[in-house]
Amino acid sequence: MNILGIETSCDETGVAIYSTEGGLLAHALHSQIQLHAEYGGVVPELASRDHVRKLIPLVKEVMQQAGLQSNDFTGIAYTAGPGLMGALMVGAAFARSLGMAWQIPTLAVHHLEGHLLSPLLEDPAPAFPFLALLVSGGHTLLAEVTAIGKYRILGDTLDDAAGEAFDKTAKLLGLPYPGGSLLAKLAEKGDSKRFQFPRPMTDRPGLDFSFSGLKTSALNTIHAHPNDEQTKADIAYAFQEAVIDTLVIKCVRAIKTTHLQRLVVAGGVSANTKLREKLHTKLAANGVELYFPRLEFCTDNGAMIAYAGFRHMQLGQFDTNLEIQVRPRWALEE
Ligand code: KG4
Ligand code: ZN
Repeated sequence: MNILGIETSCDETGVAIYSTEGGLLAHALHSQIQLHAEYGGVVPELASRDHVRKLIPLVKEVMQQAGLQSNDFTGIAYTAGPGLMGALMVGAAFARSLGMAWQIPTLAVHHLEGHLLSPLLEDPAPAFPFLALLVSGGHTLLAEVTAIGKYRILGDTLDDAAGEAFDKTAKLLGLPYPGGSLLAKLAEKGDSKRFQFPRPMTDRPGLDFSFSGLKTSALNTIHAHPNDEQTKADIAYAFQEAVIDTLVIKCVRAIKTTHLQRLVVAGGVSANTKLREKLHTKLAANGVELYFPRLEFCTDNGAMIAYAGFRHMQLGQFDTNLEIQVRPRWALEE
């Protein structure tokens, strides 16, 4: 079985091939960061147009990498949501049309399922069941994963996603979009003692998150202090510590309530070194198995979509309704 995966939900065009025999045979990615940087955020219309330009060359590239011809493919999986309507439509129309031309089945994949399963591309891969912390630019959630397609949300964010909070605070500190990893870099030079930000929603029961207040803490601190590089680094440090601490506290709580001993962490923010370190000290030291995607698969990519599609198609699941439909808003449990 050879499955082509297509990701176009936001600002990366990702294409990959996953096979029964060889696992991940090929993957290619085009990031639009440069394209959107001057606007300080993703411009949906520009994103769609760029996906149109990049999809065919990237598909050709992965086919060449894998040494496969069109008649070697068993199915095509594509991200149908959540994400930007126009960007999703490009991937959906492309995948469905290619499926028709190659006369093979297609499957609409949930973007967050792709992220959740991305650590399964690694060796060793986590066994089911596991707890998953998904921290991306658009989502922050804790979920119990019992099997492919069996996801129970335990906690969600009430406002900003973790990555979104990183990006917004980075912007306040004068860093270009998307500033998450740049803020983390700046925090390396920060003084750990200078500022203390709250750990939102850790003083009450439950597994939900709220990160928009931290952005306000950062803003108030910026206004109250001189705008020098050291102050910026100190604010970055305090902000990052607050987000990470909050995430770790909720993971510990989720492990206690579910009694699951495996934690999978995925999404763009799972690339954060401090988060990985803190999870290792707090959880791995207490016998919890930890799993992360490799760094390049933390952020959006085609490999995770090819893999999620592969696992579903292995179970005989593919779409019978071939309408080109996308779901910009789509709950993971649906
Ligand atoms: O998963 P992803 O590519 O996008 C969504 O599906 O939303 O995640 C992108 C997010 C951005 O907010 C980016 O700033 C953040 O992940 N990010 C980081 C790091 N690397 C990427 N945040 C904190 N530390 C990092 N090292
Ligand atoms: Zn994503």
